Amino acid sequence: MPYISEDKINEVKDQIDIVNLISEYIDLKQSGSNYIGLCPFHNEKTPSFTVSSQKRIFHCFGCGEGGDAISFIMKKENLSYPEAIQFLADKLGIFLETGKVDKELYEHRKILYAINNEAKLYFFHNLLTNTIPKKYIKERGLDRTFINKYMIGYATGNAQGLLNHLLKKGYKVEDMIELGLVKKSSKSNSLYDAFRNRLIFPITDIRKNIIGFGGRTLVDDRAKYINSPESLIYHKSNNIYGVGNLQNASKKNKIILVEGYMDVISLSNNGIDYCVASLGTALTKEQAKLISRYSKNIYICYDGDDAGIKAAERAMEIFAELNINPYIVQIPDGLDPDDYVKKYGKNAFDNLLENSLNPILYKYRNLLNSYNLKDIDQKVEFLEKLAKLLSDIESKLTRDEYISRFSKDLDIDNESLLQEVDKISNNMNKKDTSNLLKVDKKIYNSNKTNMKLKLIESLRFVLFNNPIANRIIEESDFLKNETKYWTLCLEIIQNINLNDDLKHQIQSLNLDSDIEKIFNKVLKIKDFTEYTNIDSANKYINSLRVEGLIYKRDELKEQFSLLEENENLTDDLKIVYSNLAMDILKLNKEIKKFDKN
Ligand code: UTP
Ligand code: MN
Repeated sequence: MPYISEDKINEVKDQIDIVNLISEYIDLKQSGSNYIGLCPFHNEKTPSFTVSSQKRIFHCFGCGEGGDAISFIMKKENLSYPEAIQFLADKLGIFLETGKVDKELYEHRKILYAINNEAKLYFFHNLLTNTIPKKYIKERGLDRTFINKYMIGYATGNAQGLLNHLLKKGYKVEDMIELGLVKKSSKSNSLYDAFRNRLIFPITDIRKNIIGFGGRTLVDDRAKYINSPESLIYHKSNNIYGVGNLQNASKKNKIILVEGYMDVISLSNNGIDYCVASLGTALTKEQAKLISRYSKNIYICYDGDDAGIKAAERAMEIFAELNINPYIVQIPDGLDPDDYVKKYGKNAFDNLLENSLNPILYKYRNLLNSYNLKDIDQKVEFLEKLAKLLSDIESKLTRDEYISRFSKDLDIDNESLLQEVDKISNNMNKKDTSNLLKVDKKIYNSNKTNMKLKLIESLRFVLFNNPIANRIIEESDFLKNETKYWTLCLEIIQNINLNDDLKHQIQSLNLDSDIEKIFNKVLKIKDFTEYTNIDSANKYINSLRVEGLIYKRDELKEQFSLLEENENLTDDLKIVYSNLAMDILKLNKEIKKFDKN
């Protein structure tokens, strides 16, 4: 195995969700803030295997086995430590760069963290020694302990305060500029602090590195907040404000997602310290994943204004993609969480949490509010929309539950609502089908020549003994359905000696002419070193994966079209039919994901 930088190892560790990972091997059920299941390392009938998503560890109370995601994979997949890292990195789509460049980047990152840390201390010191920010904090009703907990700081009006401080500490201007702490004026080329006259909120990652800052103006500057730009160490879409504090949060079975810095701090000030903020931007899938690692009970509590409501609905959809049903908390009168908790107190806020709605009830309530059910036409439209909403629920059990609940609530006949939903579900399947075809054209089609190219390419990696040739063989498995030569060629390779003249050896093996042609193509390369390289093997494995998925998808599509032509499907086949459609859609989604990367 090559050298894997600590940075990359941390990236893998940060991103892996231990509950999801272990769920791929055994069934886990939530139990309090942990998950339990039957231990995969010893035989048992009652579950004593526990996984903690916050602590990110597993432990079996039966056999004593325990550890983190990496040790789980080492044990379960029988891998060495670096192999387990590689295994997880592949799963996460993280590319393990290796070598000198990576090491330099790592060193540079360390310097950037150090500068940010120094800046944090500088701002913190300013806050303690100036009356302006202390007065402001007091006016906003914040207790002093929260200054410490969130390391809140203050940037004075001094245009070169931080610059000079960091220079004195020996840091380079170009690094300060890279972090967005210092700017260069375009006219005079002079340097100045980016944050001035602002309350400063350091942003940390889950390992509590300072990766960026937000600053709120205390002098009514036109920009209420300014934030650190994207940098080597700060990726807005992958981080969320407040995660650094979640580890010690008091009520870990819940997480509240808010919009702003002040909301997190103010709720914390009121004893609600399990909050994170997406910082006014649209929630990304990476952020949603990050949050869901701490708890699956997520309360979206965005501002009560129109923008907040829209953003909450979008966030709800993002979580839905991760199969998480968040609760939507609605704050009345257009207030934000900070305003609300200050005005009405913690109990009132807890009440809001209790009255929050899951996505279905939330959408139902919105529908109710947008139609006048006394008007016949409107009621019909309402029912159509409602049936559509219900038909989107995948689980039949859940769907039926809501159907009976809503029909009671609306005082309408259970059966007719059920029929309406079924009608839409059937139509939907048709629509899904036409969508399938649409998506297909955009996604590359696999074809025979492509398969042949893959065959040749895979063989090269194997022939030239790539260190991860075994994985290439694994991922190429789908080729064997398409060309009978794959397995054959692999066997032949075992008889080839890399140290002898390769062309000559092939000729002397007296192969079938088709196979000889394949090998001639395999050998028709100028430089084989690319095929001995792990990085290029990893890249190639990614493309094989897509190809494998496309292959599987196309196979399902063939089965699907057989059923599609059949007008009179039995009930059983109808189920097969819609399951196929679902599987194809899922595969298409996965393929598209690769397409984006
Ligand atoms: P808000 O305008 O709701 O601010 O923006 P707030 O958090 O309630 O702040 P206070 O109470 O007025 O002090 C929500 C979040 O959007 C981002 C910030 O992260 C803010 O916390 N934002 C807002 C910006 O990045 N820039 C802006 O100019 C405004
Ligand atoms: Mn506010």
